[in-house]
Amino acid sequence: MAIPPHQRDELIARAQQARQHAYAPYSGYPVGAALLARSGTIYEGVNVENAAYPTGMCAERSAVFSAVSKGERDFSAIAVVTADGGTPCGSCRQVLTEFGPEIVVFIADGQGRLIAETTAEDLLPDAFGPANLSRR
Ligand code: THU
Repeated sequence: MAIPPHQRDELIARAQQARQHAYAPYSGYPVGAALLARSGTIYEGVNVENAAYPTGMCAERSAVFSAVSKGERDFSAIAVVTADGGTPCGSCRQVLTEFGPEIVVFIADGQGRLIAETTAEDLLPDAFGPANLSRR
């Protein structure tokens, strides 16, 4: 579903704001995300690192898990803001795909400039998904 420009801009602005709360003392690479549920609510997420490195969490998954914790399962778009407009990692691509290959992904840089617009499916083609387990 096409996301109107005003919603895209709001998502990027919310991800940019959230990024200020990222906890990234080890990588120095703060990430902010803002996820739009079809209910209209926006859920932010940030990366939260840890001295025990692998226990840290990415911004995109923080946003998804926060939204799901509130009962949301239907999402239309997510904005991800990093210093350089980096793309979501493989684990985040997998988690986004679980909730909808059609989710639009806006990638922006630290100034809020749109670097790319794509979808979960384009970021992770031929994904393993819920359908693979439907005949258990
Ligand atoms: N990171 C994210 O939050 N999202 C991504 O999709 C890529 C990586 C975080 C994880 C870690 O805290 C830092 O960026 C450097 O990898």
